[in-house]
Amino acid sequence: MRAVDLIHKKRNGGSLSEAELSFLIDGYSQGDIPDYQMSAWAMAVFFRGMTAKETADLTLAMARSGDQIDLSPIRGIKADKHSTGGVGDKTTLIVAPLVAACGVPVAKMSGRGLGHTGGTIDKLESIAGFRTELTRDQFLTQVNEIGLAVIGQSGNITPADKKLYALRDVTATVQSIPLIASSVMSKKIAAGADAIVLDVKTGSGAFMKSLEESEALARAMVDIGTQVGRRTAALISDMDQPLGFAIGNALEVREAIETLRGQGPKDLTELCVALGAHMVMLGGQADSLEAAEALVREKLASGAALDKFRTFVETQGGNPAVADDPALLPQAPVIIEVTVQTDGFIQRIDAEQLGLAAMLLGAGRATKDAGIDHAVGLTMRRKTGERVAAGEAIVLLHVREDSRKVREVEELVRSAFTIGGEAPSLPPLLQSVVTESGTHRYG
Ligand code: URA
Repeated sequence: MRAVDLIHKKRNGGSLSEAELSFLIDGYSQGDIPDYQMSAWAMAVFFRGMTAKETADLTLAMARSGDQIDLSPIRGIKADKHSTGGVGDKTTLIVAPLVAACGVPVAKMSGRGLGHTGGTIDKLESIAGFRTELTRDQFLTQVNEIGLAVIGQSGNITPADKKLYALRDVTATVQSIPLIASSVMSKKIAAGADAIVLDVKTGSGAFMKSLEESEALARAMVDIGTQVGRRTAALISDMDQPLGFAIGNALEVREAIETLRGQGPKDLTELCVALGAHMVMLGGQADSLEAAEALVREKLASGAALDKFRTFVETQGGNPAVADDPALLPQAPVIIEVTVQTDGFIQRIDAEQLGLAAMLLGAGRATKDAGIDHAVGLTMRRKTGERVAAGEAIVLLHVREDSRKVREVEELVRSAFTIGGEAPSLPPLLQSVVTESGTHRYG
């Protein structure tokens, strides 16, 4: 087999067989196929697309390229969730204990933040003592005992995807539905869960800008999961503004705890309930989505989800008292108000820009190995569609000290808000759900 023949075949609109895709992925991982040939192939896929069978074969070839986690020692149907990006997205902190409280085991590996996006592991590490590294045995035993564990990515998961994603990033081939779908699903499949719920973001801040494109991506991912025997569903949610009000590690943990106490922001709560209900349904703890949603709401209202969070934190070495007193989390000593200069309605909030602002304050990393400050970040006081008055504080910056840099971030935050004379029409948070049996639009 020769890479050039496979590039030629795809360039002319042909379909590659499983053996041909394995040849490409294995050859690329081992360094036998050079970047320039893989780039040409990725560009051919960008223009020609891939069949559902090719997409599934590519996914499995990438999943096989590194470690595959065996969760079979854990009893029950293990559920996982994944979000395709998002600023202020602290859903894992809420959904994982919520779903575990409903009887669905969650054995989850999460990442750290980079650039404008945060990472669950960084957020958890803002709880004093919390350990995000467990041995394989500790990880499996903990899930069997308390129904839940979240650890940092360890070992060598999907190295082929890592290499290919970096190449796509610099060859203008990221925005391809089969390539995004196989990239995301290879990681989820290697991570071992039986049931996978995907949160596909749509809107100007997301990979997929329109609902149709987002549904096509969701469909591709659900089909891959289904073809390889994983129960898979995808929710499509709006990503035109940050989720909830807080951006920054300890600030987001605090908001997650408030949500587990039933006092969280409406958008965050509703997304968590929807994601949780699908995980509970796929995890076999309810016969219908309505029953799953009722169970999830009951576990939130009764405090069972908060109890599970407390146990989870304690078991992984963290201070469980944060669940009752979030003031125990790290707090920045200085708060600076960002005010608006005109009256009007918030037309738009640039989520990515706010994520970048939080990173510049020290909540995130500009480079992979940079340190972070768990206490700093920002909290929004207003969201899209709300009326504001000149001079009103719309965001609070939580910082170590006032400085020129902080004043620059203040400007960046102010410019993330577009204020206009008329109330904008708001897209619903939950837009569509894609399952094995079809696509359902909300509203
Ligand atoms: N996220 C991924 O993991 N892969 C992609 O290709 C795009 C987003």
